[in-house]
Amino acid sequence: MSNLDNREKRMLLALQGRKGAWTLDEVLTACNWDDQAYAATAGHGLSNHGLVDIKETTRATLRHGPEGENAVAEGLLEARLWNWIKNSPEPSMAALSSTFERSESGPGIGLLKGLGVSIQQGVLVATDSNSVSAAIEERTAFITSLEGSEEMVAHFSNRRGLIEEVLTTTRTWQISKTGMAVSAQELTEKQVVSQITPELLQSDEWKDMEFKPFDVTLEAAMPRSGRSHPMQALIERIRAIFLEMGFSEIADDYVQSAGWNMDALFIPQDHPAREMQDTFYLEEPTGIDVPDELIKQWQAIHEHGGDTESIGWGGKFDPEVSKKALLRTHTTVNTVQYLKENPDKPCRVFTIDRVFRKESIDRTHLPEFHQIEGIIMEEGANLAMLVTTLKTFYAKMGYPEVRVRPAYFPYTEPSLEVEVKWRGKWLELGGAGIFRPEVTEPLGIKWPVCAWGMGLERLAMLVLGLDDIRQLYISDLAWLAEQPIL
Ligand code: PHE
Repeated sequence: MSNLDNREKRMLLALQGRKGAWTLDEVLTACNWDDQAYAATAGHGLSNHGLVDIKETTRATLRHGPEGENAVAEGLLEARLWNWIKNSPEPSMAALSSTFERSESGPGIGLLKGLGVSIQQGVLVATDSNSVSAAIEERTAFITSLEGSEEMVAHFSNRRGLIEEVLTTTRTWQISKTGMAVSAQELTEKQVVSQITPELLQSDEWKDMEFKPFDVTLEAAMPRSGRSHPMQALIERIRAIFLEMGFSEIADDYVQSAGWNMDALFIPQDHPAREMQDTFYLEEPTGIDVPDELIKQWQAIHEHGGDTESIGWGGKFDPEVSKKALLRTHTTVNTVQYLKENPDKPCRVFTIDRVFRKESIDRTHLPEFHQIEGIIMEEGANLAMLVTTLKTFYAKMGYPEVRVRPAYFPYTEPSLEVEVKWRGKWLELGGAGIFRPEVTEPLGIKWPVCAWGMGLERLAMLVLGLDDIRQLYISDLAWLAEQPIL
């Protein structure tokens, strides 16, 4: 009987003392309890084990309604009226209405009429005073004690608020044969531990203790406490993954020159994404200084390929365009500058930062969002390494199914699109590739550079199961409180 809890053991042991039905009071006394819920629960448990039989009887009892309580305190309405009639020299209707509220005199006369009182020339009279008094006494006795004839119950049930019927269930418990057969030894109560403390673990005592089983499937209250916004928490998690994979983090401003944001990346100056309707250009600062020497190199590469084997884009390159200030449209502007500053040091760096594009806001677009950008530059860096790195990243995020498809970016060759399987569908999460010589040569780089840029908000939608990207930034407190800890 090790699956009995302590209260069940105690109650069964008590019931073994005498066959036959036990009342609640008897059980409480025998078990030394003062809470009847203990007896009810333990009895129920024992009955489920077939050790005890429960008999329930339901009985209707009466109790006072709100008007009934008033009647006990002040007398029934008909009693008070009758008293007044008996004691006044001339119980006229006029005198009645100056003594009693209209809300009482009306119904009161109705009640008295039923008992044989009538109105004669404006005066209340009774043909048989004694029978009126007797009837009122009977009613008063009933309403005081709540005990009396069926007629009394019927009468007061028809009057509002005087009596109420309540159903009470009484139980008795009787031990069964199997219950009798349980040995007293099996019914010794054990100390049950519901909380494991460091002190307990340090001593050896825990070895002999019994632990309260926890039902992890039960509903529990959601702890509410201050914590990071889900986006911040997600950034932390991504950061931790890249650091763990041996990457270092870089950060840079989001105000940049068109030269670094686009020219350095061999994006042609007439590329549609450069248009005002796609990119936020700035009035302040009016321009950003870019070394002339760099602009000259970009110009040569764009116009005819410069010293690379490329033939460039042809046409005319405008050096003034390179100096335009803008809000960066991708974080590739930062990794490419990192390479310029560290051309001969193999590296693995990443950045998670904000970018801006003139998008109209809808379910899947925001004008301001974040990218997860990274590069690997080292001798022998190649496409397989790039794909494995991205697959490893997504696997660590909890998305083991990743595929890449051919894509196009002006600054990479080959170029890839990265897709992740989510709820049975392939979703595009970012771009990647190996920087073209048109990008790396002016920077003085000798090794291949694997590069990628992925959408953070898109990933957040997967992680949080959202179908509307705007949910991430509307500060919906109820929604925020419900988000999982990432
Ligand atoms: N910059 C690209 C974008 O914004 C992503 C990308 C980064 C693609 C690096 C290739 C290499 O979508």
